[in-house]
Amino acid sequence: MRVTLRQLEVFAAVARNLSYTRAAEALHLSQPAVSMQVRQLEEAVSMPLFEQLGKKIYLTEAGRELQNYSRIIAQQLAEAESVLDELKGIQRGHLNITVASTANYFIPALLAAFSTRYPGIKISLNVTNRQGTLKQLDENETDIVIMGKPPDGHDLEAQPFRENPLVVVAPPGHALVGRKRIPLKRLSEETFLVRETGSGTRIAMERFFREAKVEITTGMEAGSNEAVKQSVQAGLGLGLLSRDTLAMELKLGQLKILDVEGFPIVRHWHIVHRKGKRLAAGARAFKEFLLDPAHQWSE
Ligand code: PGA
Repeated sequence: MRVTLRQLEVFAAVARNLSYTRAAEALHLSQPAVSMQVRQLEEAVSMPLFEQLGKKIYLTEAGRELQNYSRIIAQQLAEAESVLDELKGIQRGHLNITVASTANYFIPALLAAFSTRYPGIKISLNVTNRQGTLKQLDENETDIVIMGKPPDGHDLEAQPFRENPLVVVAPPGHALVGRKRIPLKRLSEETFLVRETGSGTRIAMERFFREAKVEITTGMEAGSNEAVKQSVQAGLGLGLLSRDTLAMELKLGQLKILDVEGFPIVRHWHIVHRKGKRLAAGARAFKEFLLDPAHQWSE
C-alpha cells in the first residue's frame, strides 16, 4: 500500500468535515486538489473511502477503518515532533539561572557536573541576594532560582533539595573558641556583623534571635558573605553564616565555628520558578538533575 502522509492528512480533513469544500477551506487548498488527493488514496488502497448519497458524503467501512489509523498516525507524528524538539532544546538549549549569593558557594560545582552531562546547554549564572532573586522571579527575568524557602504570595513553585546550616563563626583567637555547648544567652555579650538588608541569611538570623528572645548587639553591616568573613577575621565581631560559605576558611583555620546551643539553624535550599512557567528544555533538565537523589549531597 503506497500512501503518503499528505493523502492521509487530506483524507482525515474530509472525513472530519464530511465535505470536500469545508476540508479544502480548512487546509487552504482548492476543492479539486482535495478531491484528487482522496481519489489517489482510494486508488492506492483499491477501495472507495467515501460514498455519496444525495448531496451528502459518508465514510465507507474502509473509510472508517482508515480514519482510525490516520488519527493514530497523526498522534504519533505529533509525539515524535515534540520528542525531537525536546532533544534539540537539550542539545542546544539555554539555562538562565539566578542564585542567592550564599548558594554560589556550591552551585558552580553542580553546574560543572550538569555541563559535562549536557555540553550543548549554554548557562548564564546570575548572583544576587534573596531580595534580588525574588525581584527577578516577580519580573520573570530568570528561568530558575536557587534560594532559601521563598515567602508566600509570589505565586512560586519551590522544592527543597539540600540543607543549609547556619553557624556562628569567630576568629581563631576568640575566647569562645573550643568551648562546648555555649549557652545562647552568652551571645548577647558579643557584637555580630550582619549581612545587608535583603539577605536571606540576615533575615534568618534576625528571626532566630527574636524567637529565642536573645538580644544581640549588631555591629558593622557587611554587604556580602566574603565581607562578613574578612571582618570576622579582622576581629570586628562574630558572624552568622551558612556553612556552605566557609569551606576554605575552615580548612585553613582562619575561622572557627562556635558550638552554640540551638545551632546550627537548619534552613533548606530550594529550586524555585514561577508557578505554571513552561520551563525551556535546559531549565527542565537542570531541575531534574538537581532533584535527582544522586545530587542531593550535603557535606
Ligand atoms: P543570601 O541567601 O543571604 O545570600 O540572600 C540566601 C537565602 O535566600 O536565604
